[in-house]
Amino acid sequence: MSVVEVRGLTKEFGDMVAVDHVDLASREGEFLVLLGPSGCGKTTLLRMIAGLEEPTSGEIYIGGEKMNGLPPRIRKVAMVFQSYALYPHMTVARNIAFPLRAEGVDKAEQDKRVRWAAELLGIDRYLDRRPRQLSGGERQRVALARALVREPNVFLLDEPLSNLDAKLRAAARDDLLEFQRRVGITTIYVTHDQVEAMGMGDRIAVMRDGKIRQFGTPEEIYSDPADTFVATFIGSPPMNLLEGEHRVVGFRPENFKPIGEFTERDVPSTFRFHVNRSEYLGSDRFLYGVVEGYDENTKVIARVPVGSTIAEGATYEFGVAAADLCYFDPRTGKRLRGDA
Ligand SMILES: Nc1ncnc2c1ncn2[C@@H]1O[C@H](COP(=O)(O)OP(=O)(O)OP(=O)(O)O)[C@@H](O)[C@H]1O
Ligand SMILES: [Mg+2]
Repeated sequence: MSVVEVRGLTKEFGDMVAVDHVDLASREGEFLVLLGPSGCGKTTLLRMIAGLEEPTSGEIYIGGEKMNGLPPRIRKVAMVFQSYALYPHMTVARNIAFPLRAEGVDKAEQDKRVRWAAELLGIDRYLDRRPRQLSGGERQRVALARALVREPNVFLLDEPLSNLDAKLRAAARDDLLEFQRRVGITTIYVTHDQVEAMGMGDRIAVMRDGKIRQFGTPEEIYSDPADTFVATFIGSPPMNLLEGEHRVVGFRPENFKPIGEFTERDVPSTFRFHVNRSEYLGSDRFLYGVVEGYDENTKVIARVPVGSTIAEGATYEFGVAAADLCYFDPRTGKRLRGDA
């Protein structure tokens, strides 16, 4: 178990800046999620920590020691890649043992560690099979076991569940978290799926264009977004944004409610909300519409209970409590603090 820290970490490919002065520090045993859209630099950042990519500038520390220039195996870091290719002609056992053979670990020790990792991941029954005789989720666990046998201090996982279908993915996510809690290895997990990030991360670093836009717990990122990018990237449906001349007002769909639901004490900001469409989702209802005073392209969404009697085509008085409003700078998109 080790803490991972990077300072001013930068990677340029020609004139393209893939990772731009990133500062980030994990806590020991933490499950840290790197979240961001495709191309924002997640894999590049992970590869630099693993020692597979040389930074253009900046420092990398693992367990307090500077790692720049040291080869991957000395860093005691295990990385599972986006495409976790297993060797099809080798059995599961040989696949898992592969990094140990490469390091010249003796056979008895190899067998012991393969069995330990396979048991931990619940794949000990499959040791004699070939990868093609396994389901996607089982193959995934073989890849994790192969990373685990080297007893790393840090786990770097690059979208390891992206090849699985939705149902298997939810189960694999659960397994992975449970396993990580049990072994307590500091883990950095990359995803572009905000639901996955919110559900799994102790803390989430939200990236865009090579930069970390916000780093915090899922609660902090959801209720206190640092800018309009984070506000709309996290949450489904995203935060509503109403752009004015001097500021942008943001509020979450679940905080946008009929005026009758507010008590006299918490006086809300009110909006006349014209409902264009009502969408039934089983557990909730989403209302899609526009608010008076803003142009028609500014779509606003409310999340209300399924039993709501609100009708399509009608206009209602809606409100948002003052505490649930966020304000942003219309030029930079950055959060304005206070009532601005
Ligand atoms: N070896 C390379 N040479 C040139 N450009 C590269 C190289 N590797 C990555 N890039 C560029 O750096 C940027 C960041 O790439 P990276 O793979 O880190 O993104 P990512 O966040 O992992 O995206 P994804 O979610 O699609 O995997 C991209 O614009 C990519 O095209
Ligand atoms: Mg990637």
